[in-house]
Amino acid sequence: MRRNKKLRQYIKAYRLSDMRAMARNNGANPRLCNDGFAGRLVVITGATAGIGYATARMYAARGANLLCINRNAEKSQAICREIETEFGVRCSDIIADLSRLDDMHSVGHRLAGLNESIDVLIHNAGTYLTRRVETVDGLETVFAVNYLSSFVINNLLIEKLRDQDRGRVLLVNSEAHRFAPWGLHLNDLNWTHYRYSGLRSYGSAKLAQLLSMLTFDELFAGSKVTINAVHPGAVRTNSGNDNGAFYRWFKSKILERKFRSTDISADALYYLGVSPEVEGISGKFYNLTTLENPSPPALDRVAARELWKISLSLGGFADTHGPSGTQPNH
Ligand SMILES: NC(=O)c1ccc[n+]([C@@H]2O[C@H](COP(=O)([O-])OP(=O)(O)OC[C@H]3O[C@@H](n4cnc5c(N)ncnc54)[C@H](OP(=O)(O)O)[C@@H]3O)[C@@H](O)[C@H]2O)c1
Repeated sequence: MRRNKKLRQYIKAYRLSDMRAMARNNGANPRLCNDGFAGRLVVITGATAGIGYATARMYAARGANLLCINRNAEKSQAICREIETEFGVRCSDIIADLSRLDDMHSVGHRLAGLNESIDVLIHNAGTYLTRRVETVDGLETVFAVNYLSSFVINNLLIEKLRDQDRGRVLLVNSEAHRFAPWGLHLNDLNWTHYRYSGLRSYGSAKLAQLLSMLTFDELFAGSKVTINAVHPGAVRTNSGNDNGAFYRWFKSKILERKFRSTDISADALYYLGVSPEVEGISGKFYNLTTLENPSPPALDRVAARELWKISLSLGGFADTHGPSGTQPNH
């Protein structure tokens, strides 16, 4: 009954003009920012490949110091040395598997303990899996990496970010949040009952991240900290390569035919992290650098509140021996 009411509410809110805007924006180029960023600190997850790698290089080329959160130590160290040699900036790393709750918490605590300000925090690490895979904590992997890791880390950073009174948090999200057109299955975020598919789990994880953004935006209110989500373009990366030979064939021969270079993603993530033109804007969804209306379920504040409570529990904050996690004043 309640679900039917929600569906009616969402259906009423869908606008053809939003879909037309998305189609238009998908073909556009990002706005560029040519300002330097020397000496500033950028934290980025998943900088070993694809969008994260291109973005890390873009910030380093403009003088930023980097702290990369990567899971593969060998690749991570090679990339940090490459960046330091090529651009003369500081590039350090934290090795973490962001599908694991203990790693999410340890990253959050280490970032919270830094004695310098984080100027830009980019939650980029992500994965696309056509089959349901459970993490060591019994979570569904796409949900854990694409959504829960950003939730846990941001949650542990609220105080630090508010105290430093500056900083831009960027969530590398996706137009694919629209693949969950009727909202989240809040009673089954782990896909144990509902039928799993790659598109559904990926779309739902991205939708969950957009809903969490609404609450983080409220928690940052009154400070100069901003949080925004960005669709980084449809670009050629390693995404989905863990899905077997048939998927890789489909991806390279069909799906990616019109995909673009990760340069556009890096341009957009640099613009949103640095440009004075977006100073103070928060809680928004961008397609590259164009403001866009996300799907109606992504604006559902009631669902956002329920999701927050469930995420605290799934994210390991409910444990009486663990950290308490921040509750908004709803
Ligand atoms: N490509 C697109 O067209 C597109 C479109 C919309 C949104 N996105 C989003 O863009 C982001 C980046 O994806 P991409 O396309 O650049 O894919 P990618 O080339 O596969 O890069 C993903 C990055 O995330 C890291 N990662 C994956 N699982 C991780 C884990 N458990 N713990 C820590 N790091 C992990 C990967 O590390 P390894 O090198 O160790 O694998 C890699 O550095 C994702 O959030 C994705 O959903 C991409």
